[in-house]
Amino acid sequence: MRTDTEHTIYLKDYAPTPYRIVSVDLDFKIAPDTTRVRAQLTIEPREGTEPGAPLALDGEELKLEEIAIDGAPLVLSAYAADATGLTVIAPPARRFVLETLVSITPETNTKLMGLYRSSDVWCTQCEPEGFRRITYYLDRPDVLATFKVRMTADETLAPVLLANGNLVARGSLDNGQHFAVWEDPFPKPAYLFALVAGDLGSITDTYTTGSGRKVDLAIYCAHGKEEQCAWAMDSLKRSMAWDEKRFGREYDLDVFNIVAVSDFNFGAMENKGLNIFNDRLVFAKPETATDADYENIERVIAHEYFHNWTGNRITCRDWFQLCLKEGLTVYRDQEFTSDERSRSVKRISDVLTLRSAQFPEDAGPLAHPPRPDQYREINNFYTPTVYEKGAEVVRMLATLLGEAGFRKGMDLYFERHDGEATTIEAFLKVFEDANEVDLGQFKTWYLEAGTPKVTVSDTYDAESQTYRLSINQETAPTPGQPEKADRVIPVAFGLIGPNGSPMGWKGVSGGEVREDMIVLRDKSAEMTFTGVASKPVPSLLRGFSAPVNLATNLTQNDRLFLAQHDSDPFNRWQALQDVGLALIVDAVAGNEADEAAILALSAAMSDTLANNSLDDAFKALALNLPDEQLVGRTIGKDVDPAAIHTARKALLKAVFGPLVDRMYTAYATLASEAPYAPTTEQTGRRALRNRLMALMVTASPNGPALAADQYRHATNMTDRFAALVAAGVAWTADAAALLADFRLRFAGDPLVFDKWLAVNARAEDEGVLSRIEIILDDPAFPKNNPNRLRSLVGSFAMGNPVQFTRADGAGFRFVTQFVADVDTRNPQVAARVLTGFRIWPMLEATRREAAREALVTLKENENLSRNTSDILARMLG
Ligand code: PHE
Ligand code: ZN
Repeated sequence: MRTDTEHTIYLKDYAPTPYRIVSVDLDFKIAPDTTRVRAQLTIEPREGTEPGAPLALDGEELKLEEIAIDGAPLVLSAYAADATGLTVIAPPARRFVLETLVSITPETNTKLMGLYRSSDVWCTQCEPEGFRRITYYLDRPDVLATFKVRMTADETLAPVLLANGNLVARGSLDNGQHFAVWEDPFPKPAYLFALVAGDLGSITDTYTTGSGRKVDLAIYCAHGKEEQCAWAMDSLKRSMAWDEKRFGREYDLDVFNIVAVSDFNFGAMENKGLNIFNDRLVFAKPETATDADYENIERVIAHEYFHNWTGNRITCRDWFQLCLKEGLTVYRDQEFTSDERSRSVKRISDVLTLRSAQFPEDAGPLAHPPRPDQYREINNFYTPTVYEKGAEVVRMLATLLGEAGFRKGMDLYFERHDGEATTIEAFLKVFEDANEVDLGQFKTWYLEAGTPKVTVSDTYDAESQTYRLSINQETAPTPGQPEKADRVIPVAFGLIGPNGSPMGWKGVSGGEVREDMIVLRDKSAEMTFTGVASKPVPSLLRGFSAPVNLATNLTQNDRLFLAQHDSDPFNRWQALQDVGLALIVDAVAGNEADEAAILALSAAMSDTLANNSLDDAFKALALNLPDEQLVGRTIGKDVDPAAIHTARKALLKAVFGPLVDRMYTAYATLASEAPYAPTTEQTGRRALRNRLMALMVTASPNGPALAADQYRHATNMTDRFAALVAAGVAWTADAAALLADFRLRFAGDPLVFDKWLAVNARAEDEGVLSRIEIILDDPAFPKNNPNRLRSLVGSFAMGNPVQFTRADGAGFRFVTQFVADVDTRNPQVAARVLTGFRIWPMLEATRREAAREALVTLKENENLSRNTSDILARMLG
């Protein structure tokens, strides 16, 4: 394996380019096999640049055919081109036009970066460094230019020709060719460039902004899928309205286009005025898409749209600042969903995602700060830490500053930095200036990796009516960061009296305590509350006010009390989860079962189910036990996933077994004849009903038959797929038959095939690995499509903890062999699947050794991509 340390890029080395690109004229001659790109770059030296200093442009897999400056071809000695770029040795010391003609081959581009072909459609993906695979350029986000794009293609092969901005000309040419010219008036970095050429259908609509600008909206897709784009269009219009209302941000072009493509490495891309989407995040109809799919589409459509301001109008100075746009935009899309649906349910789901995706990253060998200060391969930093933790950090800012203070800062951000490529420092500064606060310590959240552990214990003295809370923070070392600074941690809280009502206090000393929030700034604080009439139960970290692990001295009874009385829905949910977590951890440790707590948890679950004041979606989240990975992380070392699995299952039976009759009655009552709609109400109802069904599969001997029955009679994909997942994951007696039916019933729909693959990959039984191998070895399996590969192997590595970590190492070896193979075609997919190993240092010795061996064997491969070798090197430490 190459180690590539020479390629490490450091934040501290940041310097602007010696040259600026002012404007770009591109002319694409698109044709099967070879596409030609003529680029005219208007370039000028920046102030202070040595006259004649070399101009080094990025370029990859380009064939240079012509090169000229101000119309005069360059002699061979005036430039040098190699595998990474083109250097013009002594360019003019004034504004000039560099013209290049290159040819590229989109059809062989399996990396799906740059211009490639997906189901015959030509499309681009440029973030972060794909534009250099289209033409020679200063391919970095702090080079902002206006773009004019002319495209020519065969009128039958590509009747649709799209690029960023507004359409300024189009027409027919000889030989069945036609052309279109697009102009984007907003200066932008190359990573936001996009074009699409192909034979596509579309749906159209319009949106009128608050100030009266009429915007033409269109979603382009494969012919025949048009009616499946309606939900995405609806989501887009709601997103546009929301950003005006909540952040005062209007759309700024006359058109907004979205294109759905089948081959795409990520979810979607916010190219200016021309978002390109993985089609799984566009297409929806009730028969083939689940409620979760509908919610995901709504969320990602909103996310990409919101980037128009947070990402496009204001972009990143360099890729270290990625969370400047991503963390902020995830925060914005979370707020959108909270406003459109249920805030508390959204918060719980987001915390579940954070804990299952980001916490393990932060606790393992791939841990990095939201703003890293070095990287070898930037593609490996599109991580849960940059996105989800980045959003948590923005959320804490809003919590600390209050809604009005946060909005003042955002307004100043847009006013001060519009049109710029900027930094986290500039982002924090606007909040400091707008609120006259010092965020120096707060910045640690961006600079340091690791999830702080906050420990709280309390005591009460009846005689003096004083209540004491002692709180401290500790962050374990992470790779490259042995020492950790103290962080500012907002701990939203309340005290609850013995009758279940909120309790006040007369005075408080020893810490920064606001009405409903403790702000911890030091390593520890001892707070004394006076005038507390009786012993309260504290509700801590309400709404999950900071991304930390909380440990308290609460008893199981305290938790059950909170589950019943806390006014904060998040903490009611959390309290129940904590009761279950303690019980599973105990069982894994081999301690005698706390029968009283199990009974009490069962009763609390029963109360939750019966409680008419709770909504269904909340109940669906509450009637569950913490997932196995969370239990593993709580245990922390020498983890045996099989033992955790067994203990969790036993507890599920003990807690929910006695409730089966009640659950069945509720299940029957929740059935509905209403025609499917992805509304909050219906979604919650189905979520609860399907949750009960899944519980019964584990807790009742009749559960498997119930699941099979629901599968057969389902009238929408949400219900059908929930039954398939429940049966498939548990690998019930019907599982194989249901899977076979599912495959036939939806043959020809690739997105449903992904669902089928994922269930196959998550089955808990020993046979799963050989079944996956058979699927993958089928010559008809689409070996280059990221969705298919991730659904099968990604789901196995990330979503089947027991079989992936099998003690014989077969799961590990299967994944590393897969990674080695896919790496030769699509390094991004390979590297991402490999991150499934991030839990390996925590495993018990046999499994740990097996994982290490598989990784070391992979490392012997001489030809690994930079993407995969970077992950591998960090994984092995
Ligand atoms: N910028 C995209 C988003 O978050 C993600 C992405 C990154 C897509 C890299 C493609 C390539 O919205
Ligand atoms: Zn994004």
